[in-house]
Parts: sequence; structure tokens; C-alpha cells
Amino acid sequence: MRLLVTGGAGYIGSVVGALLVADGHDVTVLDDLSTGHEDAVPTGATFVQGTLREDAPRLLAGGADAVLHFAAKSLVGESMAKPSLYWESNLGGSLALLEAMRAAGTPRIVFSSTAAVYGEPEQVPIEETAPTRPTSPYGGSKVAVDTALSEYARMHGIGAMSLRYFNVAGAYPEAADAGSGAPGAADAGSGAPGAGGAGGAGAGGPVGRWLGERHSPETHLIPNVLAVARSAARGDGGHLTLFGDDYPTPDGTCVRDYIHVADLARAHLLALDACQPGQHRVYNLGSESGSSNLEVLAECRAVTGVDIPAEIGPRRPGDPAVLVASSAKIRADLGWRPERDLRAMVADAWAFTRAMAEPGRTP
Ligand SMILES: NC(=O)c1ccc[n+]([C@@H]2O[C@H](COP(=O)([O-])OP(=O)(O)OC[C@H]3O[C@@H](n4cnc5c(N)ncnc54)[C@H](O)[C@@H]3O)[C@@H](O)[C@H]2O)c1
Repeated sequence: MRLLVTGGAGYIGSVVGALLVADGHDVTVLDDLSTGHEDAVPTGATFVQGTLREDAPRLLAGGADAVLHFAAKSLVGESMAKPSLYWESNLGGSLALLEAMRAAGTPRIVFSSTAAVYGEPEQVPIEETAPTRPTSPYGGSKVAVDTALSEYARMHGIGAMSLRYFNVAGAYPEAADAGSGAPGAADAGSGAPGAGGAGGAGAGGPVGRWLGERHSPETHLIPNVLAVARSAARGDGGHLTLFGDDYPTPDGTCVRDYIHVADLARAHLLALDACQPGQHRVYNLGSESGSSNLEVLAECRAVTGVDIPAEIGPRRPGDPAVLVASSAKIRADLGWRPERDLRAMVADAWAFTRAMAEPGRTP
């Protein structure tokens, strides 16, 4: 298929793009590099630096079978400080994209939604039928895009999928022969056995490079814990602060549902194939099991072998105690299930962290 991947120079878009290239698709990445990195664009994809508003219409007019839409601003705190930026960028950008799809007759779209649409849940695990009560403009803008997708499906016959990601983690080892069209290049690694990562040189062959999380600022727990691990290992000091240990959870720290980026990416390929004209479907993507902040810290200590210094700070306003997905719907409809556990996520993220810090190092 000819595919447009918006945000394909970012964390998740680059990994999904790499899987799509390995699966034999013709991939064009559209990314304005506002938070992405040109060197993360999947090998074998065509890269266009540009925006949804200005460049998507021209690219889609050239003919495309589907759009995978990752491009967005995604910092909850920033969205509280600058709500209009989020409405303009996430909703406005997505509406421009949908109009370009309508004009060009592009039939399908897979959209990156988020657990943030649910806000403070009444029940866990959270099902897709739970009320959407976002507590930030970030979550609000994603709900608004979902509404627009339903409308474009109903009014214009577009086939749409919204995938509501929970906490995405881990890294993906692009195969050394990526982009060559070699069969079996996809899904080269992970399931990383044992501590220290480097799961990538697994069944799929040697690793070319790692694609992983490089946000600035980084707000996600695992890369932040691993950054402290690296700094502690070098004797550079620093420590981790966990926000609150008085939540109604078994160890008092917040519980989140982590999903490996490679498992998440696989779900996109299934969703792409399952798009039906005129239908908008919504699926949660999580592992259906929660890990507390202290459990994540313990896993990071085990994988890195570093006694990562950490302290407990006050709660952060607006953090729900427990966020865990029900992924029963996507299991039943698309046959997807997560294959990699928290150990694999941390091991692969650690391999990526070290590969970034020491270019040329063999994973
Ligand atoms: N990372 C997570 O845990 C997580 C969880 C839930 C949902 N999501 C969603 O998944 C998507 C990808 O997240 P990510 O972590 O890879 O983020 P990211 O910031 O790494 O990637 C987003 C990419 O989109 C690009 N971009 C942003 N606005 C653009 C625009 N208007 N035109 C063109 N390019 C633009 C950025 O440069 C970046 O490369 C986002 O939509 C995010 O809201 C992520």
C-alpha cells in the first residue's frame, strides 16, 4: 500500500513506519520536526519535512491508500499552559488532514488516540465504552478528533480507527537490512531475554539501529529512570523523584499500564487492514496489567544493575491512582495481544539509551 505516516520522525511513528517498510509498504513520512528527529525516519521511507496543513493536501493528492496519523503535541502539562496551541495543532491539524483526505479520496486512517481521553476513571480496567472526561486540553483535543473521525466516516465513507494508547515504552531495533525489502526484516528483536537489553539481535537478524523515545522534555517514567541510572553509573549524581506514595494502591505509588512500542506497532498493521469504509472503530491498547512506580523502579534497577537513587516527593495534581486498560475488544476483533513484558520494555529502552549515549556501540 502507499501510506502517509504523519509524525513518522517521532517515537511511535518511526517504529510503526519501520514495521510498515519491512512489511513491504511504500511509506512517506510527513513531519515538521517540531519534536521529532530526522535521523529517526525509518530506513527506506521517503521523508518530507512539512506540516499537516501545508503539505498533507499535496502529498495525498498524489495518491495514497491510507494515512497513519501520529503527528501531535502530546505534553499534558504544556497543554494546560497553552491550550490554544493544542486545539490548533491537534484538532486543527487533524481537520486539515481529514479535509485533504476527503478531497483526494484517501479511504483509510489510523489515528493515535490516548488513555488521557478517559480522565479519572470510575472503573478499572477501562473499557472503550467508559465516559470520556478528559482533564487536559491534550486529552480534550484527542476526543475532538475522535468525534471528527466519526463524522468523516459517516458523511464521507472514510474507514477510521482510533487506537487509545496507555503508557507506551521500550524501543525497537530496526534490522540492519531495513529498507532493502528483505523478507523477515520486521519485528527483529525484543522480548529481550535477561538484563541489559540488546534483545534486538534476535530471530530477525542483526540490529541496524535502535528507534526509541527522545522527547524533550521527557515526561515518561521509564526513560527518566534510565537517564538517572546512566548518570548514577557515571558518578554524575542526580536522583529520581516519584510523585506520591500515599495512593490507594498496594505500595502507595501510582499504577500504570505499560505497553511495548513493538506490540503497539503491530496493532497498527492489524488496524490498517481492518479499516472498513464508513466505519469509525475505537480500541484501547494496553497490557491489561498495571505496574506501580516502585515496581518500574525495581525493574530498572534489575535491568541496569545500577542502584538508582530515588526519593518520594508530593503527589502531582491530576494524577489518577490507577490507569489500566481493558484490551478485550481488540483481542476479540483483531486477534491482537501484547507479547512483551515490563522487563523487555526496560531492557530495550536501556539498549536504546546506551546506543544514543555511545554512537557506534554495537547493541
Ligand atoms: N508516547 C506515548 O506514551 C503516547 C501515549 C498516548 C498517545 N500518544 C500519541 O501518539 C502519537 C505519537 O506520540 P510520540 O510519543 O511518538 O510523540 P513524538 O513527539 O515523538 O512524535 C510526534 C511527531 O509528530 C511531529 N509533529 C507534531 N505536530 C506536527 C504537525 N502539525 N505537522 C507535522 N508533524 C508534526 C513531531 O515533530 C514528532 O516527530 C501522538 O499523537 C501522541 O499524542 C503517545
